[in-house]
Amino acid sequence: MSSITSLASDINISARFRSTRRRTLALIEPLTPEDMMVQSCSDASPAKWHIAHTSWFFESFVLREFLHNYEVFHPDFVWLFNSYYQSFAAFPEKRLRSSFSRPSLAEILHYRQHVDEAVERLLDSNPEPGALKRIELGANHEEQHQELLLTDILHAFFTNPLRPAYKQETAGTEEFSNSAGSDSQQQSVPLHFVDFPGGLVELGHNGDGFCFDNELQRHRVWLDPYSLAALPVTCGEYAEFIADGGYRRPELWLSAGWDAVQHNGWRAPLYWSGEVGKWSLFTLRGEFPLSQMEAAPVSHVSYFEADAYARWTRCRLPTESEWEAAARDSTKGQPVEGNLLDSGRLVPAPAAELVQSQSPTKWFGDCWEWTASAYLSYPGFQPLPGSLGEYNGKFMSGQMVLRGGSCVTPAAHIRASYRNFFPPETRWQFSGIRLAKS
Ligand SMILES: [Fe+2]
Repeated sequence: MSSITSLASDINISARFRSTRRRTLALIEPLTPEDMMVQSCSDASPAKWHIAHTSWFFESFVLREFLHNYEVFHPDFVWLFNSYYQSFAAFPEKRLRSSFSRPSLAEILHYRQHVDEAVERLLDSNPEPGALKRIELGANHEEQHQELLLTDILHAFFTNPLRPAYKQETAGTEEFSNSAGSDSQQQSVPLHFVDFPGGLVELGHNGDGFCFDNELQRHRVWLDPYSLAALPVTCGEYAEFIADGGYRRPELWLSAGWDAVQHNGWRAPLYWSGEVGKWSLFTLRGEFPLSQMEAAPVSHVSYFEADAYARWTRCRLPTESEWEAAARDSTKGQPVEGNLLDSGRLVPAPAAELVQSQSPTKWFGDCWEWTASAYLSYPGFQPLPGSLGEYNGKFMSGQMVLRGGSCVTPAAHIRASYRNFFPPETRWQFSGIRLAKS
């Protein structure tokens, strides 16, 4: 029985590896080599770098450790495409990634092929369980970079004065325009809350399938009774906050948030242009007037904006414990559903579709949801051994947890226990708001 389970696991990991590598190449199909060089903000990396770095990860943490006689593709790539693993090798400053006109894109793609072929040889050699676990980690790592690649391209195209669309509407692909759609198709779903009893709940990954080290150990938390909004805050609702002077009222803001508003000149979410009553929103599918996006979840807000919005509504943001317990309770082990990368929409979708599908609540997809929880280790947290211990643990300072995944998160990548994390001023991510009440 155990050998059958093991074989199934090998096949699953092989399939996961191949499909993940194929999807990355599919994501760059709409891009030109010039698009793939752009690094338009300090959070972002060029698409070309993502293509190389994800191969570097397999070479560094799978092939060099587990494939006998593996020869690195190029000795300089060992450090050139390292992101932040201090104990592994030196690496260039992040801001210099857009200067990597050499190696050429053709050479980077050759590097990917070299790595793919080597991983296939490893998979054919009856690899030890540790090697398979690393390949699985590499696939999950690459899925994170697929999301980053699209997030970074959205910023790059917003920065471009021509505002190009990553995904053009063509005959047969008008489903987004139809669903985001005409004004007549917009349906405002009234804000409603779902009550949860709280009590002693178990949080953290439950042991089924892959998880990152920061989702462990499973532990118990006491929650008082609480209520969470059934759906994230919409663009239309957020526009009311702006119209009510939300960005001009210091009493609504944390001190650091108000400083960020003043320093950065924020007056709307990132990618909103225009003014009150005339907003337009830039997306991976181009620019849309707010009237076509009113029922879609608001995205690209910082933690500070999410917190100020919640205060304006006399609510608060959920803690990550409340979010996870509610998502587990509501989905009861059902497969993850939502507007994730697999939907192909690439833009947060109006909630009206969910109501029509009889789903009373939505937990996954559209946009990550800021929580009121600082990103800290769980009790008993053990970082991965060696350099991979730097993957998550060293960032547990000055960042807030986000939950739920976005419209550019692969569906196979997200789960109730998944913890994303970013500094509170971050806006380039697909990050939105869910309200909570005690
Ligand atoms: Fe990475």
